[in-house]
Amino acid sequence: MVAARETALPLDLARIRADFPVLSRQVNGHPLVYLDSAASAQQPAAVIDAVAGYARAHHANVHRGVHTLSQEATALYEGARERVRRFVNAASVAEIVFVRGATEAINLVAQSFGRPQFAAGDEIVVTRLEHHSNIVPWQLLAAETGARVRVVPINGRGVVDFEAYLGLLGPRTRLVALAHVSNALGTVLPVAAFVAAARERGIATVIDGAQAAPHLPVDVQAIGCDFYAFSAHKMYGPTGIGVLYAREALLAAMPPWQGGGDMILTVSFEGSTWNHLPHRFEAGTPNIGGAVGLGAAIDYLGGVGAARIAAHEQDLLEYATARLAGIPGLTLVGTAPDKSSLVSFTVEGVHPHDLGTVLDSRGIAVRTGHHCAMPVMEHFGVPATTRASFGLYNTRAEVDALHAALGDAIRMLR
Ligand code: ALA
Repeated sequence: MVAARETALPLDLARIRADFPVLSRQVNGHPLVYLDSAASAQQPAAVIDAVAGYARAHHANVHRGVHTLSQEATALYEGARERVRRFVNAASVAEIVFVRGATEAINLVAQSFGRPQFAAGDEIVVTRLEHHSNIVPWQLLAAETGARVRVVPINGRGVVDFEAYLGLLGPRTRLVALAHVSNALGTVLPVAAFVAAARERGIATVIDGAQAAPHLPVDVQAIGCDFYAFSAHKMYGPTGIGVLYAREALLAAMPPWQGGGDMILTVSFEGSTWNHLPHRFEAGTPNIGGAVGLGAAIDYLGGVGAARIAAHEQDLLEYATARLAGIPGLTLVGTAPDKSSLVSFTVEGVHPHDLGTVLDSRGIAVRTGHHCAMPVMEHFGVPATTRASFGLYNTRAEVDALHAALGDAIRMLR
């Protein structure tokens, strides 16, 4: 049921929900209430059909054949790259590298940008709210080079301490890596300000945009970052495909990080030469169908409109925050003033996994655990939280279903 206020909102939710086949299924005898889009968002038929359509009619290897199918596949693959370029407002498609996802993008930067240049005593600055994919690659790099990882603290609301950040930027700081949006807390970081402070000091910047790309307009030139990473599957596209945006001048100076087909110009046993950007960083046959699906997801998001999506999701966030705040014993974890559309919480006397299991029995999918952000959990002194994360297809009625099920679950589990 669509509540009255929703119908007054600019998004046509009934129509949007009809675009997502999975949303019509039942789970454990109840209509699915999917509140785990921060882990992986559902796909609209337009994405599913684009991937299937590619496989049915156009599949061949890219950049390799004079035959028609290869040329069609190449046009679709490179067409997706141009869509991504426009989506993040990059200056050139040479700056758009297809990877498996945000995690691989960050590892690429660590290994190709960081490893050849960083030395003992160099510093990499991250924030305390990063998820593991924006911590561990830097720890590996630190172990390999003798650099050290320094951590910007967050406060009790989950806001990153900007003054402390400025204090950590010193003569040995080589790189800053920070989330655009926290996956565990929802905090939106003012990344342009963080980046500007780093750039003034000649420090490279990496933004983990995995949780931002589905929710906020992303403009890498306005942010001013050197690198920006995101995954298709969190923005209504397929798994196994993502993007590294990299400023062309930096990418041009970086050595390849994987060797193989498509990243070379010539190979001989005397030595090989590398392909042009961005292909130098795409060794082997890429995930062509995935790229097609990502392009379709970008088209879908563009059709709905970033501003309308953001307004709808903010409404859901405010509604859910108010409703959950009324549940006795429930504590919201992450209450930043600028927040993306998720609520993370603990319930006194109830383990999140038990809560998640009971909610699932009512057809409600949430994520429970440390959300791949164990330092955040440590900061708040909790082993785990329950997280309900919203996408453009969620409704106030679903928030009401969560609220009702939480009340029942808490009564049952306490
Ligand atoms: N980082 C993903 C999440 O937040 C997996 O659930």
